[in-house]
Amino acid sequence: MLARRTEPFGETIFSEISALALAHGAINLGQGFPDFAPPDFVLEAARASLEGGLQQYARGAGHLPLTEAIAAEASASFGRSLDPASEITVTVGATEGLFASMLALLDPGDEVILLEPFYDSYPANALIAGAVPRFVPLHPGADGRWRLDPDELRAAFSSRTKLLVLNTPHNPTGKVFTREELELCASLCLEHDALALCDEVYEQLRYDGRAHVRLATLPGMWERTVTLSSAGKTFSVTGWKIGWAIASPALSLGIRRLHQWIPFAVATPLQAAVARALVAAAARGYYDELRAFYSARRAELVAILRDAGLRPLVPEGAYYVIADTSALGASDDTSFCRQLTTEVGVAAIPPSAFYCEAHRPLARQLARFCFCKRPETLAAAGERLRAAALAR
Ligand SMILES: Cc1ncc(COP(=O)(O)O)c(C=O)c1O
Repeated sequence: MLARRTEPFGETIFSEISALALAHGAINLGQGFPDFAPPDFVLEAARASLEGGLQQYARGAGHLPLTEAIAAEASASFGRSLDPASEITVTVGATEGLFASMLALLDPGDEVILLEPFYDSYPANALIAGAVPRFVPLHPGADGRWRLDPDELRAAFSSRTKLLVLNTPHNPTGKVFTREELELCASLCLEHDALALCDEVYEQLRYDGRAHVRLATLPGMWERTVTLSSAGKTFSVTGWKIGWAIASPALSLGIRRLHQWIPFAVATPLQAAVARALVAAAARGYYDELRAFYSARRAELVAILRDAGLRPLVPEGAYYVIADTSALGASDDTSFCRQLTTEVGVAAIPPSAFYCEAHRPLARQLARFCFCKRPETLAAAGERLRAAALAR
């Protein structure tokens, strides 16, 4: 009855663990959404926009006040004056940006390079586009930093490579790619005439003063890079699903050709709200506040995991911690996370869901926890984890 393209897609690990968490009253450190309200100025922006008479379809490529606010905010970090009309497309979260971009850039049979652990919509989108994913795992070092092996990345490129997907700051490792790593990516894209899709939804969440370098700013990369971002993580409004794609007019045209047949346009009042929020955020130094808040939550979660006998790999960005579970004798990440959810009452995500079948064993002794939670939530999870560690 159903089309064959539906067959590879079962229930996501997030639905499974969230349902398990609900059934067992577990504290959910699995799925990455904040359990606190967005800042008042963001809610105020939404109220003002809803009452401002914007109830009908928006411009398909994006409500102009929003594309103008994005251009004003992002031009400096792109090192160019972004054109709000032709270089910024508003999408239904970065999720639709990923889907529309992959459909716009990939022909059936093209190869797309995905780094592991990946965000799970990347391989799904590539498959729907008929493309062939090539997987390159990141490796955790003894110092807790995740490394990209230049030889492995080089070996994944071929004459069929059309696209490299890069996520920085990275979910789930928290890795912030260095300029040198990005230079390697850029040189391989240029050498193989490949394009790049950069998922930068966590661009504001970097710790210890780390800089966010955009692949699109490296020499020769603007013309071949699509950069995606979203209001969800920055303003703690993941349910709004307002994202955007920044790219040259030629690449934006391709994305818009697909976007017009996916949602056509995105919720007008929420686009207007994000436009207001971007202007207000810059004026009040909000991004530094956000980083300070998450830096404190990161420290809390890292301490909790250490106390529980796990070895957290301290993230450089985003809001997840991958922990090494080997000291607890865990040998399978999925059973470990299920057990943690049902028996200890703290839900975490098994990272093997973010690897291709052949590379899944790399995640056997890992678990992903998120810290986009209130201090009380983390403290309650800490109590349960410590109690479980003591009882062992
Ligand atoms: C790496 C990454 N990309 C994209 C998304 C989805 O973004 P949005 O909610 O804006 O669709 C997420 C959400 O968790 C993510 O972690």
